[in-house]
Amino acid sequence: MKLSFSEAKDPKSGVLVLLADKDAIQNPHVRRLDDATGGAISKAIKSSRWGGQATDILDLLAPSGIDASRIILAGLGDVKTLKVTDFERLGGRLAKYLQSAGDPLATILLDNTGADLPLAEQACALATGAMLRSYRFDKYRTKEPKSKKPTLKELVIASAEHKKAQSLFSVENAVLSGVFLTRDLVSEPANILYPESFAKIAQSLGDDGIEVEVLNEKEMRKLGMNALLGVGQGSDRESRLVVMRWNGGDPADQPIAFVGKGVTFDTGGISIKPAEGMEQMKWDMGGAGIVTGLMRALARRKAKANVVGVIGLVENMPSGSAQRPGDVVTSMSGQTIEVINTDAEGRLVLADALWYTQDRFKPTSMIDLATLTGAIIISLGHEYAGYFTADEGLSAALYKAGDQSGDKVWRMPLADEYDKLINCDIADMKNVGGRAAGSITAAQFLKRFSNDVPWVHIDVAGMVWSDKEHDLYEKGATGFGVRLLDRYVRDHKG
Ligand code: BES
Ligand code: ZN
Ligand code: ZN
Repeated sequence: MKLSFSEAKDPKSGVLVLLADKDAIQNPHVRRLDDATGGAISKAIKSSRWGGQATDILDLLAPSGIDASRIILAGLGDVKTLKVTDFERLGGRLAKYLQSAGDPLATILLDNTGADLPLAEQACALATGAMLRSYRFDKYRTKEPKSKKPTLKELVIASAEHKKAQSLFSVENAVLSGVFLTRDLVSEPANILYPESFAKIAQSLGDDGIEVEVLNEKEMRKLGMNALLGVGQGSDRESRLVVMRWNGGDPADQPIAFVGKGVTFDTGGISIKPAEGMEQMKWDMGGAGIVTGLMRALARRKAKANVVGVIGLVENMPSGSAQRPGDVVTSMSGQTIEVINTDAEGRLVLADALWYTQDRFKPTSMIDLATLTGAIIISLGHEYAGYFTADEGLSAALYKAGDQSGDKVWRMPLADEYDKLINCDIADMKNVGGRAAGSITAAQFLKRFSNDVPWVHIDVAGMVWSDKEHDLYEKGATGFGVRLLDRYVRDHKG
């Protein structure tokens, strides 16, 4: 779908969309077009259930007296309370509606909504939401009938502030390219996306100005990354660790770091998962997908920040060479781990990726992202990602970024009492803490590898994939996290 911004005038063809609250008829555009169409709009409002609510849509086919093929009146809800995220969601809903409305062209005429938000920001948010919703992962659908494909080819957002809106949107569009990369990575099946092929895609970020390094197994062995390597040892696919660097800030500034779990398929290993739903474990690389998409977003919007992204890429398979329950591994940090359950593999991968990141880059802060536990879905469902940190400043900043971006996060606790649950008789720790507080004991495990660098762990297991459609995405990969972290970087570094 093509998207553009234009001045506030009626289109010569295609669908015309007007936005209004319950007092629609007082809106100057609505009144003008009502007059031009011989009262068609007011008549339709009266004879329908349209009440200006946020999800109300009134569709007037081919009203006479105007050039547009139809007029759509979309409800705004309670205008006084509308935020950027509300306009994004409205843009997403409209894009969905227009995609099957039949006309290849649509113009949203935006004016006098009454919202307490600059017009250019309203226009930009509508565009962002529409683009987010228009993403499709259809490369493997070779037989999709034309009747199922979206009809909308071009969306125009018309407003008096179109130049300003266009310039705001150029930044959002850069971030969207990151979100779409994340969705592509998460959607790919594990026969196509495995550690080496993922690393190749990460290497292509070199074209965006990112420095990319790929460590192979031999190099990781030399560094002592036996926790990460143990997870991958049962797979025919070699493991990889990818480092991506964006140096847009002051060269004297220490970077901030993002670290991602990239299990390209999680069978559970010898502690094998049940067959039902196992196909979902192709998106167990979601944390790494977010970090990779974020790096693209930051590079394309030329963020004034120094950022390091590190992703640990492994495939967790059962085989004659696979790690066994009870095996003890020595991590890069020197700490030893008894692997009680080979399905608690994400924390083993992150243990070495986190240690490596703080050891090599001395970041001011470190945020890891991982589809780490099923338990976080029991706690928070699919509305909020759970985050863990001992740093009040980071916590406040992350919560705010969640609120502003719409990628919502909720804080979970850390405490010594939970930490004790992973103490172990034979080694420094075990990789599971029992049934109780599963997401928290996983976080406590990771904390032991943060070496006291200000650190946040975000468990995104409930967020990277959706079985239901949403205003901003279809079923499937959501792209959650990229906009959250982009906002976090923007507010703190530029
Ligand atoms: N990748 C899973 C977590 C997961 C589960 C993500 C469901 C998304 C949806 C992780 O590696 C795992 O298997 N965790 C175990 C830990 C347990 C063995 C302590 C879990 O959550 O059951
Ligand atoms: Zn697992
Ligand atoms: Zn996993």
